[in-house]
Amino acid sequence: MKIATTIAQARALIAELREERRASAQGSAVGFVPTMGYLHEGHASLLRRSRQENGVSVLSIFVNPIQFGPGEDLDRYPRSEEADLKLAEREGVDVVFLPSVDEMYPEERRTTVTVTGVTERLCGASRPGHFDGVATVVSKLFHIVKPDRAYFGAKDAQQVAVLQKMVTDLNLDVVIVPCPIVREADGLALSSRNVYLSAEQRREALVLSRSLREAQARIERDGSVTSRAITDEVTQAIQASPLAEIDYVELLTFPNLEPLVADREMADLRRSGGSVILALAVKFGSTRLIDNAIMKLK
Ligand code: PAJ
Repeated sequence: MKIATTIAQARALIAELREERRASAQGSAVGFVPTMGYLHEGHASLLRRSRQENGVSVLSIFVNPIQFGPGEDLDRYPRSEEADLKLAEREGVDVVFLPSVDEMYPEERRTTVTVTGVTERLCGASRPGHFDGVATVVSKLFHIVKPDRAYFGAKDAQQVAVLQKMVTDLNLDVVIVPCPIVREADGLALSSRNVYLSAEQRREALVLSRSLREAQARIERDGSVTSRAITDEVTQAIQASPLAEIDYVELLTFPNLEPLVADREMADLRRSGGSVILALAVKFGSTRLIDNAIMKLK
């Protein structure tokens, strides 16, 4: 496994490997997993998939300052370079790109990638500028790594929708591969931010995955249930937890992330075989957790 800290090194190492593997059985396609580090089994699942499907596998670890708003957790975002490199090695990563902030943003930036529409709701509404930061850094990383495929977790479903739209609109030559959410045995979605939770908050945070599961069962069982009934039920379940403070609970069409209105209610979406996303963001103390369920309506 090679480590690149500069853009020039990353480009050279990846080009070299691509050339080297050209004639090999596994091929020379480049798979890419962008992360902010503090890696866990969710990240590992993306790395495994990248390893399986590509001859060259690249991981980036970069806590991207421009996707954090004022008052968010940029300064205390957890870091563990040594453990991350061990996990990367175990998952067969070929190149780890570990740039500094100065390497990625050496001078005043005058270019921002903004995706509209799909960024209007959910985290786009509660974290203004967040997806500009994500789309801009991922676009930069794509130009550095030049991947054939890039792997993203459905845990951040809006991020996947935003990046897919960016790739489509800008004709970027990369395939976005969405991967399923990895959860703890008790249902909590894995997140680097879970380390912030106290034991009590960690226990109460189970209400998120539990209420999503219950809502999913109700949607499958009751063909005439409305989006309002579902979001009300989930809201009430979460409000019953004294430590939880809801940021949003929303049921939207997927992947366009539009609200379900009269002529696009669930019963109509069922007839057209559409998909919906039930997404939530909830704070436990100062820790904000997100989770979601994407369902194809039948
Ligand atoms: P980060 O939060 O480190 O996540 C990196 C990737 O891991 C994302 O695609 C995310 O969806 C995925 N991931 C996180 N938890 C997961 C889980 N429980 N199951 C499956 N996948 C999971 O997302 C970012 O970093 C940044 O916004 C980034 C794309 C790197 C841009 O800075």
